[in-house]
Amino acid sequence: MNNFTYYAPTRYIFGRDTEKETGRLAVENGMKKVLVTYGGGSVVRSGLLDRVKESLEDAGVKYVEFGGIKPNPTDDRVYEGIEMVRHEQIDGLIAVGGGSVIDTAKAIALGALYDGDFWDFYAGKRVPEQALPVGVVLTIPAAGSEGSGNSVITKLDGLHKISLRTDYVIRPKFAILNPVLTFTLPPYQTACGVADMMAHIMERYFSPTEDVAVTDHLCQGLLRAIVEVAPRVMADPEDYQARANIMWAGTLAHNGICGCGRVEDWVSHFMEHEISAVYGVTHGAGLAVVYPAFLLFMAEHKPAKPAQLARTVFNIDEKDDSAAARKGVEAMKHFFGSLGLPLTFKELGIENPDIDLLVSKLIENKGEVVGGYYRLDAADLHSIYELMK
Ligand code: NZQ
Ligand code: ZN
Repeated sequence: MNNFTYYAPTRYIFGRDTEKETGRLAVENGMKKVLVTYGGGSVVRSGLLDRVKESLEDAGVKYVEFGGIKPNPTDDRVYEGIEMVRHEQIDGLIAVGGGSVIDTAKAIALGALYDGDFWDFYAGKRVPEQALPVGVVLTIPAAGSEGSGNSVITKLDGLHKISLRTDYVIRPKFAILNPVLTFTLPPYQTACGVADMMAHIMERYFSPTEDVAVTDHLCQGLLRAIVEVAPRVMADPEDYQARANIMWAGTLAHNGICGCGRVEDWVSHFMEHEISAVYGVTHGAGLAVVYPAFLLFMAEHKPAKPAQLARTVFNIDEKDDSAAARKGVEAMKHFFGSLGLPLTFKELGIENPDIDLLVSKLIENKGEVVGGYYRLDAADLHSIYELMK
């Protein structure tokens, strides 16, 4: 196990009706006037936004609304939000939604306290040091942004989708997790969320670091739980206990606990971010296509860990590593397919993927050789994208 520091100071408030705590938590975090960010309207239709506003009003917190944030959020809305925060003298942000809404709030929180261009942080030109406090009311278990120090924004100029990673500067101060809020999720979004949280665990699981039994078992246990419970949320969207388990899994998958003391991989996310930046697909759906291809490539090149995954998560009984890994890929595809997820570019709605473009953008954004588990160059990345056809 490697040395590590783990500091994840988000307060989680889990359970029914917990959105009523928003105002109190905002006050506790020193917020007097907040920007309430939300997406394309699901929280308006469900009445959640009204309940959050009521809670803020009851606690004496003023607010300004900032809605219409789209999935795979873009830099134009961040600039707009920064202007609004400065003009309205806002001192905190409440994100009511999923990863796209939370990540936009985090970017605004960072940019509002910085004199230069907020993109400097995403481009790696500046290291974030301070941000306005962000609170979250989560509506979709998927991206894990409610407990992560990360924010993913796409720069429209050049379609660069970049993940900014910080230890704690933009980690939410609090995250309200009410499983009931996820009852209204369409089945496809539920399934995409499941694929994303599984990917967050696997990005950490695929590690070259030896002697990491604790985090390996954490990863395997979480993955097994997700595979066990996900069919229940698909069959009955209002199964509270199943929704609750999936919601907590999504947070644990990405709040850093599974990656302590080990080198992480993240190639599959890099590959997916290029797909969703160029073709605008849902992140989790893209990952359902990328991950089996990544594992199939590894079955040939470095099969030990994919074989371990196959045996422990998908109960594959096979001694040979490469064969076990390949059977694991089939089991994963079967599982994703059973949730209604796409498994190929075509099923993602991309008839003629421009693989050269995807590879060249990835290398431009991430470097010539990428991946913690196995070092991949342009030719390798090309091969993995080809396996998605
Ligand atoms: O916009 P509305 O109308 O709210 O609808 C949303 C949106 O269309 C809908 N939705 C959310 N909650 C709902 C609901 N519909 C009905 N009922 C509800 N309760 O779901 C759609 C997707 O929302 P989005 O916020 O885009 O989902 P997600 O949480 O999957 O976020 C995806 C974004 O997060 C990034 C992804 O790349 C993508 O841009 N990621 C962020 C990470 C992070 N910050 O740590 C890590 C991830 O790996 C990921 O890259
Ligand atoms: Zn993800």
